[in-house]
Amino acid sequence: MKKNNVTWFDGHISREDRERLHNHKGAVIWFTGLSASGKSTIAHLVEKKLHERGCSTYVLDGDNVRHGLCMDLGFTPEDRAENIRRIGEMVKLFANTAIIVLTAFISPYREDRTKVRNLLKPGEFFEIYVNCPLEVCASRDPKGIYQKARDGLIKEFTGVTAPYEPPETPEMVVYSDKEDAMESAMQVVHLLEQFKIIPKA
Ligand code: ADX
Repeated sequence: MKKNNVTWFDGHISREDRERLHNHKGAVIWFTGLSASGKSTIAHLVEKKLHERGCSTYVLDGDNVRHGLCMDLGFTPEDRAENIRRIGEMVKLFANTAIIVLTAFISPYREDRTKVRNLLKPGEFFEIYVNCPLEVCASRDPKGIYQKARDGLIKEFTGVTAPYEPPETPEMVVYSDKEDAMESAMQVVHLLEQFKIIPKA
């Protein structure tokens, strides 16, 4: 870290004040899984259900963040680590504003995900592994990107020429080849009720 004479300043409004205002807690719902596993689809459905219940939410996903905040980063292990580090700092701010932030990044490396978990307080980080066999993701291929990877046009493509390390102890696993997306989304909503992030419906 660079020494730059900056001092952290706490404002007048506490986290608890914000949580009272929103009537729910701040939390990070971190979806991880292969490209085309369904992370974004499920995250957006969870967001829709939470929004209908009056929750303050936001979804961050790989393709969008890489257009702005992380536009300078590629897909080497170092660049992915930096991508996830920046997102980790961002979601920490969201959680502190008592927003439920949902993320949909491949985040293939366990170590990078653990660092984000450790940035947050116990009980506010929910790792959701969107489990889907590689063949199924590759056959969905909505962006034609698996084909490009197989044709050698994209280097270090997760699942093809770069690793994906599944979580060992995620808060939840959903199976996007077996469940429909809304079923998976509702399981996540119930998890948030169970852990008292949101009040019961
Ligand atoms: S992460 O590995 O750093 O978490 P992130 O989720 O931001 O990745 O971005 C993944 C998206 O970038 C994929 O869905 C895909 O559209 C695109 N992409 C481009 N190149 C690659 C690559 N080499 N590996 C994986 N995804 C890639």
